[in-house]
Amino acid sequence: MRFYTDRFILSPGPTGIPHRVRLAMARETTNPDLDPGFLRVYEGVRGKLRELLKAGRSDLYVMAGEAVLGLEAAIANLLRPGDRVVVVANGVFGEGFADIVRMYGGEPILVASENWRRGVSLEGLDRALERFRDASLVTLVHCDTPSAILNDFEGVARTVRSYGIPLVVDAVSSIGGVPVDFDGWGVDFIIGGSQKVLNAPTGLTIVALRRDLWDRVEKVGYKGLYLNLKLWRDMLDGRGVFPYTMADTLVYALDEALNMIFEEGLENVYRRHGLAREASWRALEALGLESYPESIEYSSPTVTAIVAPRGVDEGRLREHLWLKYGVMLAGSWGKLEGKVFRVGHMGVQASRTHLIIAYTALARGLKDLGYEVNESKAVEAIEETFR
Ligand SMILES: Cc1ncc(COP(=O)(O)O)c(C=O)c1O
Repeated sequence: MRFYTDRFILSPGPTGIPHRVRLAMARETTNPDLDPGFLRVYEGVRGKLRELLKAGRSDLYVMAGEAVLGLEAAIANLLRPGDRVVVVANGVFGEGFADIVRMYGGEPILVASENWRRGVSLEGLDRALERFRDASLVTLVHCDTPSAILNDFEGVARTVRSYGIPLVVDAVSSIGGVPVDFDGWGVDFIIGGSQKVLNAPTGLTIVALRRDLWDRVEKVGYKGLYLNLKLWRDMLDGRGVFPYTMADTLVYALDEALNMIFEEGLENVYRRHGLAREASWRALEALGLESYPESIEYSSPTVTAIVAPRGVDEGRLREHLWLKYGVMLAGSWGKLEGKVFRVGHMGVQASRTHLIIAYTALARGLKDLGYEVNESKAVEAIEETFR
């Protein structure tokens, strides 16, 4: 017998989808290739994303396909076989860039791979860039979701800019929760996804590139079809047509998700995420648990990663929370699998109520498995943070 109807998706993406966003998907569909009304909505979404990313001087595209498509598109269009790429590798997705670089015939140089519990050191990065001045690209993950690590995007951009090497940034799980200034920081290429902080369904990726990066794209001369950014530029910007049929329902959802962010106001949105991080940290400490990031400054405002307590099978714990309370937390990946579990606080999840639900369920679940904790202290800590 289960004693609930609603369930709470508190994993760090895909997240639960707000009612408004779900309703937007019920809109009448036409043929997105033929309907000028759809093109207007799509252009509106591009404009809102440029505003969110402060990327007014970029060319920005929303492509059908999840975020990995955006990561691969970046490398496919910017890397020539034999190119060296400095890869900031302090996490699962950070290190994952090295795999994509190898697939396209490049040589990754790993930086910061020895400690995944803190953000990349700018001095360390600077030393690597000094040594590998011939590198063709630098890759960074802003928030490495599986470990909740937040890298200093602005500092990295400043450091990399002084070497004149293009910087490619995976901001899939930060945009919409952490400020980004694409133009101001001099970023070259950024990738986002629909299903993380933006709380839209899985299936869209956002890519934006600085306009003078097209010279490099031309020189690389990528010949493929689906990932080919030149096609997007020539067809969409040149002739107002899509290179392939767009997932219109998903674009309507993303549009509504962005409307929600701008109606709330960016300042409030970022402050709410900052408070969610603080509340989450205070709650885990109140339960006697340990954060995976070494300190809060290295921890993303969009997700908290918790070290599984000794003697607790985190997979069993999460399964229990799902079945008994209808609360979904996430495990982790790669070398963190089984060792770390996560609470998402991205987008609508970054709220007092969602965190109280997450930590109360977590505390009850730990007790059910025989691990003594004091849940009222955790709830108090969350309340105090949002007061
Ligand atoms: C930082 C980061 N980059 C990229 C991705 C890949 O996104 P997707 O699974 O939607 O392709 C994820 C997904 O978890 C992510 O957290």
